[in-house]
Amino acid sequence: MALLAAFFLIGCAKRDLDGDMQPTIATQRFDGTMPVPGAVAADHPLASEAGASVLRAGGNAVDAAIAAALASGVVQPSGSGLGGGGFALVVPAQGEPNVLDFREVAPSAASMESFAAQGSSTRGGLAVAVPSEGIGLAELHRMYGRASLATIAAPAIRLAEEGFPTGEHLARSLEESPDMRALFLTGNRRPGLAEALRAWVDTVGEAFRSGWVAEDLVSTVQAQGGVLSLDDIRNYKVKLRKPLVSSYGRRTVLTMPPPSSGGVALLQVLGVAGPEASLHCEVEATKHAMADRAAFGGDPDFASVDVARLLDPRYLGAITADCGPQTFPPEHYAPAPPPVDDHGTLHISAIDAEGVAVALTTTINTSFGSHVIAGRSGIVLNNQMDDFATRLGAPNAFGLVQGAQNAVAPGKRPLSSMTPTIVLDAQGEPEIAVGASGGPFIITATTAVLRSILDDGASASEAVSRPRWHHQWMPNAAIVEAGFAGAEGLRAAGHDVRTIEKPFSSVQVVVARGAQFDAASDPRKGGEPAFSR
Ligand code: GLY
Repeated sequence: MALLAAFFLIGCAKRDLDGDMQPTIATQRFDGTMPVPGAVAADHPLASEAGASVLRAGGNAVDAAIAAALASGVVQPSGSGLGGGGFALVVPAQGEPNVLDFREVAPSAASMESFAAQGSSTRGGLAVAVPSEGIGLAELHRMYGRASLATIAAPAIRLAEEGFPTGEHLARSLEESPDMRALFLTGNRRPGLAEALRAWVDTVGEAFRSGWVAEDLVSTVQAQGGVLSLDDIRNYKVKLRKPLVSSYGRRTVLTMPPPSSGGVALLQVLGVAGPEASLHCEVEATKHAMADRAAFGGDPDFASVDVARLLDPRYLGAITADCGPQTFPPEHYAPAPPPVDDHGTLHISAIDAEGVAVALTTTINTSFGSHVIAGRSGIVLNNQMDDFATRLGAPNAFGLVQGAQNAVAPGKRPLSSMTPTIVLDAQGEPEIAVGASGGPFIITATTAVLRSILDDGASASEAVSRPRWHHQWMPNAAIVEAGFAGAEGLRAAGHDVRTIEKPFSSVQVVVARGAQFDAASDPRKGGEPAFSR
């Protein structure tokens, strides 16, 4: 078993960590004229296949992840799409790893006062933060892509024009939100979205910033009482960030910095609860991490987020020492309000034989976002404003409240839980790309799958299929899936353990071992991975 090294390096690149690293996977180089071996795990089989088809056409893992994201927006519109935003962690074949942060921001006219009315941050125009997915994916391609945008968008356009079968997940989502059936013509065709995707290709994404698609989004949101303006979209900036970096045994973990809370929480839990930790102590570490999330998480451009303190080995040591035989009441962990719950997210993992790895998580926040559909393009607008603490001290739509660090301000990014993560092997080459959907469940699900692979040597599908637990500090209960083996042990340590039937997270993972790829999409959402050969 790997032993956890007790130091954390923030913002360092993989090749800074070990001067004499040699590539082990990329013995063959691809130039776009031949199929690239690799694997793509999205949460819908058609999206994974869209990605794999781009690898077969000579694209790299970044091209494949973008193709999968575009296709997901067509076939999985409850959980993703061009009306949202996201984060992409990329390890290129050469050069430094980077995070592209294309998360939505609050419109310039948004304020805390806008959300006095209950529900205004979850449904309708006011709930919509500046949609940035089309802009972000174009920038991701500009930086790292190789295939043409036409090749990348072709599967999504075909699915939007020709339709596709209704899968179990979409059927369930539409049962819960029958108003969203309006998205589809017979056979699930979405011609307006096909037109918008073509515009994305033809204008290299510009149609989503200053063209007809941007106008379509803005006029729809304004007609539904929102304050989104064309200037908000025109002024939107993708941020390039350095991943958080930590060692885990001989491996290196790269993960998402603020404005996500996910990477910090993941590294806190890995740092506190090493491979030998008991389940109870891992839950305790998670309660501390989630309490810290609520108290200290926010957009680092607007609030001070002291990542170095949160990951300081002395602080993690104190949390380790705090694990006693019994769990504590919530006030023991931090005097701060709890995180938000949400379900409108998806994660795509991709690695190719060139050594390019991508962990891409995108979101429209809750299922079908704001339920606002753009009139011409049929794009579903996000309700990412609900990831802010829109009403301090008052419960949000999920009965929860959040901290002042995460209050609404114009141009600010709401606190996220998204945790796109890439693990490098001892030689510094990408070994695992992983991440999840499920709001705060993202953090515990990503951690669980990573630990199953790293600590127990589980295969991708075994790791993803294992029943999982979750704790978010508040409410003060451990939630477990049916069949989870540790429930009795947690009860004995004083945890309030509640079993829930409904799946609460979905993890997609690709593992590269030499030139062999092992991949899994979470069966909870009906996903399947795809391979380019
Ligand atoms: N809206 C999901 C997240 O960013 O955590």
